[in-house]
Amino acid sequence: MANRITELFKIKYPLIQAGMIWCSGWKLASAVSNAGGLGIIGSGSMYPDILDEHINKCKKATNHPFAVNLPMIYPDIDKHIETILRHKVPIVFTSAGNPKTWTSLLKDNGVTVVHVVSSLKFALKSEAAGVDAVVAEGFEAGGHNGREETTTMTLIPIIANQLKIPLIAAGGIGTGKGMFAAMVLGADGVQIGSRFVASNESSAHQKFKQKVLEAKDGDTALTLKELTPVRLIKTGFYNKVQEAYQKGANVEELRDLLGRGRAKKGMFEGDLEEGELEIGQIAGLINQIKPAANIVKEIIGEFNEIKDQICSSNKFSF
Ligand SMILES: Cc1cc2nc3c(=O)[nH]c(=O)nc-3n(C[C@H](O)[C@H](O)[C@H](O)COP(=O)(O)O)c2cc1C
Repeated sequence: MANRITELFKIKYPLIQAGMIWCSGWKLASAVSNAGGLGIIGSGSMYPDILDEHINKCKKATNHPFAVNLPMIYPDIDKHIETILRHKVPIVFTSAGNPKTWTSLLKDNGVTVVHVVSSLKFALKSEAAGVDAVVAEGFEAGGHNGREETTTMTLIPIIANQLKIPLIAAGGIGTGKGMFAAMVLGADGVQIGSRFVASNESSAHQKFKQKVLEAKDGDTALTLKELTPVRLIKTGFYNKVQEAYQKGANVEELRDLLGRGRAKKGMFEGDLEEGELEIGQIAGLINQIKPAANIVKEIIGEFNEIKDQICSSNKFSF
């Protein structure tokens, strides 16, 4: 399955497991890389010494390329950059910030840089900043997201028409059919988050994984747009935010309500009522916790099956 993404990252399949706070440590990243995709360590929830430990363990667990996700809002970002460069991590996915800030330094040190965006404007800005590829993340995605509410179905063709560098689609993809659809729309590869939360190797709390399996369509929402928009499961914390909106809460009041550590509380410690449970709309299609390698295998198998079916059927002849 060779294309611009497999060549760029030196991987077998153009399937990337998203960097995810509290969920994607070395175990998940190395399992996905060993299965032929690209595994990403989510550094946004790690102290610098913890990131160091995860990179060390990931290097021991796989001989294949892996990446680190670096949300630029991370307070000690200089330390993370130093750790990444010292370990010679080959690929970095930057997100939540200006692609100009770190791209040159990383590229001068031989790192392949990918930036995550949710609009055409920022995709083109990223290309101009010299990144090697762009992830375009639609409104369906779990976790922090764009304010514009542009769906993956719309965003991918809009960006694919104008971008010269490789494009990776994210948001709402959890199956081989979804991957195929994204690539028909113009993506060179896919980044998948939510599906891998419900994997054996994800460091998400078991209660959170179970909640993902129970989630149906309509059970997630994008909220807190006044702070950093985030898609999460509608549980106790989400209901409190809704009540605050109804009472006309201002930004400061919303910030106070959010407080600190809600994501850790929900996703890592399993407090389903008080914590934030970040997950995408695709949770409605996830009904089993599986080893990450099986998830990769199933997605690629289904991708190939649907590709062959469509290419050989007369379903699309008029
Ligand atoms: C639990 C969770 C945590 C996430 N954390 C991050 C993060 O730390 N950095 C980031 O760039 N994106 C983060 N995301 C977004 C993912 O990287 C990815 O783009 C998204 O999950 C893709 O959509 P999907 O959830 O529909 O697969 C997170 C997503 C989830 C579900």
